[in-house]
Amino acid sequence: MSEPILKIDNLRTSFRIKDDYYAAVDGVSLSVNKNELLAIVGESGCGKSALAFSIMNLHSRAKIEGDILFKGQNITNLPINKLNKLRGKDMGMIFQDPLTALNPLMVIGEQIGEILLIHGTQSAEKRKTKVIELLNKVGIPRPEHVFNQFPHELSGGMRQRVVIAMAIANNPELLIADEPTTALDVTIQSQILDLIKDLKEESGAGVILITHDLGVVAEMADRVAVMYAGQIVEIADVYTLFENPLHPYTRSLLNSVPTTEEQSTLHVIQGVVPALQNLPREGCRFGARIPWIPDSAHEKNPELHEVSPGHFVRCTCYKDFHFPDGDKEGKQHVIS
Ligand SMILES: Nc1ncnc2c1ncn2[C@@H]1O[C@H](COP(=O)(O)OP(=O)(O)O)[C@@H](O)[C@H]1O
Ligand SMILES: [Mg+2]
Repeated sequence: MSEPILKIDNLRTSFRIKDDYYAAVDGVSLSVNKNELLAIVGESGCGKSALAFSIMNLHSRAKIEGDILFKGQNITNLPINKLNKLRGKDMGMIFQDPLTALNPLMVIGEQIGEILLIHGTQSAEKRKTKVIELLNKVGIPRPEHVFNQFPHELSGGMRQRVVIAMAIANNPELLIADEPTTALDVTIQSQILDLIKDLKEESGAGVILITHDLGVVAEMADRVAVMYAGQIVEIADVYTLFENPLHPYTRSLLNSVPTTEEQSTLHVIQGVVPALQNLPREGCRFGARIPWIPDSAHEKNPELHEVSPGHFVRCTCYKDFHFPDGDKEGKQHVIS
């Protein structure tokens, strides 16, 4: 198999809160191959954005430990000038909120053009041609007109297309999309996701798609990593994850999605992701939210176990997990 585009080994990203450091990403290892879409799922506060920002080295004040290899090169402590050559060229990122990613004072054409200029397209004429081409590619109607518009003159969906155009301007080999459609209407969401999928297929880039929408995951992902409280609790190819989810957190997430219109109860997972300062020092981090499972089912220092090739699950508690009252499928019970 060819070398992965991205390989992360034991990444730990910690933020300073008062006088201590707390890890928002705690020992994450994963890889992304060419033409592969890895989805990262988990509730809000699980560390998904902290992970994405670490890969792009966008945290201004975080302690980052571990190794991030981009095409075999360790980029964890790359000097800023070398890093800037990678960002926006070999690695592109699409953020959740297109408004914050765009400069309100610059017309669209200039903003995209600037990225081309930084990475070597000197001729203004060539840049304009390329910007129009990119706007076309991301499905923006009347690109010549939009070229001269400011971000506030566009709809949310159009702005996100512009952000995507910027992210792909220099044909990145790795594209990271952090909840790219959360701020958008449902109909626009699927158009944007189709666009990301097409771009991946066309360019062969590796994609990390962060989302909390399992429907999107089922439709788009090749592999899925489920994150809980800063750690990957389960990772598998998309088919295996949906057919044979093992970790209690994965199973609870899957059961919290309404499947039919007649379904009257939505399965909710009790509690919330603990704040960084309140993470348990040892033991299964999800244990507190499945109190009917005895402590003895959990490992003291839960590790990822490979249960079948490429399918990893953290903690042995998955072996003993059941929904309350022995309801194995969790269909009858609301976990709340
Ligand atoms: N700059 C920061 N300083 C301190 N804590 C942070 C910072 N950024 C994120 N966190 C905390 O790290 C955890 C993970 O956050 P985040 O990566 O944004 O989660 P997600 O993207 O999965 O919703 C949360 O507990 C959040 O409060
Ligand atoms: Mg986030």
